[in-house]
Amino acid sequence: MRQSLVNRSVMVLSGVFVAACIAFAVAVERGSQDAAVTIIAPGDMAPAVDVSAGATLYELRCERCHTLDESLAPLLEAEPGTDARAEYLKMLQRHRKSSAEENEPITDYLQSQMSTIDP
Ligand code: HEC
Repeated sequence: MRQSLVNRSVMVLSGVFVAACIAFAVAVERGSQDAAVTIIAPGDMAPAVDVSAGATLYELRCERCHTLDESLAPLLEAEPGTDARAEYLKMLQRHRKSSAEENEPITDYLQSQMSTIDP
């Protein structure tokens, strides 16, 4: 009786130990992913996003009516302190020339082009 109680305790404690190891491994893995993201995108710098999809969508949905300068104007002329990206996404929604799923990649692409234009 007493021996089986000891056996059971050992098994339960082993289980707890293994679970703690797994939880620790998962926590460390998550932490390192967060750290990687922070290194790529410190502060208010734009994160490194792949803008090729947005570039293609822009050609398809916008280029026949607008030059790049025109499309970038609201981003370049945004008042300091306003969320230019959020405003732009709202404008595209009202504009109705692209779908809700297309607006994010198109805006990513346009934001990546802002430094190529002289204000
Ligand atoms: C069929 C032609 C056409 C297409 C396609 C088109 N636009 Fe426009 N766009 C216009 C016209 C016309 C205006 C001016 C009238 C208005 O504001 O709605 C305009 C206005 C704008 C403005 C100025 C809006 C403002 O509030 O300052 C921006 C920026 C813009 N478009 C970006 C885009 C982008 C980005 C796309 C692609 C998703 C796009 N447009 C697709 C015709 C088009």
